[in-house]
Amino acid sequence: MMKAYIVTVALFALAFSFASASDPDPLQDFCVALKDYSEDSKSAIFVNGKFCKDPKLVKPEDFFFEGLNIPGNTDNKVGSNVTAVNVDTLPGLNTLGISIVRIDFAPYGENPPHTHPRGTEILVVLEGTLYVGFVTSNSENRLFTKTLNKGDVFVFPIGLIHFQLNVGKTNALAISGLSSQNPGVITIADAVFGSTPPINPDVLTKAFQLDKKVVEELQKKFGGDN
Ligand SMILES: *[C@@H]1O[C@H](CO)[C@@H](O)[C@H](O)[C@H]1NC(C)=O
Repeated sequence: MMKAYIVTVALFALAFSFASASDPDPLQDFCVALKDYSEDSKSAIFVNGKFCKDPKLVKPEDFFFEGLNIPGNTDNKVGSNVTAVNVDTLPGLNTLGISIVRIDFAPYGENPPHTHPRGTEILVVLEGTLYVGFVTSNSENRLFTKTLNKGDVFVFPIGLIHFQLNVGKTNALAISGLSSQNPGVITIADAVFGSTPPINPDVLTKAFQLDKKVVEELQKKFGGDN
């Protein structure tokens, strides 16, 4: 009897030691609370992450994605293309905190400075040579860079601004694992100069210490469908 009691207490202690002491992290950019379920019933289906499918209906295909052998089209302004396999394209990733991307680079193409608000990224180069780096937060803003060749691995800590530039004359290819089912991407130039609607140029003129004309030029370049 006493033994059973001790085992029960021990099990409870173990269970509580696994309980999280804080809220789960957001799994999308935001999740605005509804005051009342009836306020807008159409949006009441959203949760932090996704709903779970009835386990009885789950199929092997739910854990499967095909086509990561196919290069993305790099015929664009930056000369790179990211093919993402996340919870939107591989539903079995829901709640698992992991995803993967393929990054193709044309010669001298780059994956421009960006951050993943919800994920650390670990990258391996499969073809070519990439100059990669990340910058730490204020106020040090320290830059860490490395030139990577085939087989080299580099890690970009969660949330920090980072980039990859193909410094070779040939195409380059990298695969990255990310520590979120939905890591998110904020491409700095697109977000700052290409937002919808545009940020008031006065804000950017002071922030970047630029001529207003230059700011407007940049906003034209990154805004809308350009
Ligand atoms: C990336 O490649 C895919 C597949 O070729 C293409 O549909 C998509 O438009 C490309 N994205 C960019 C930004 O070029």
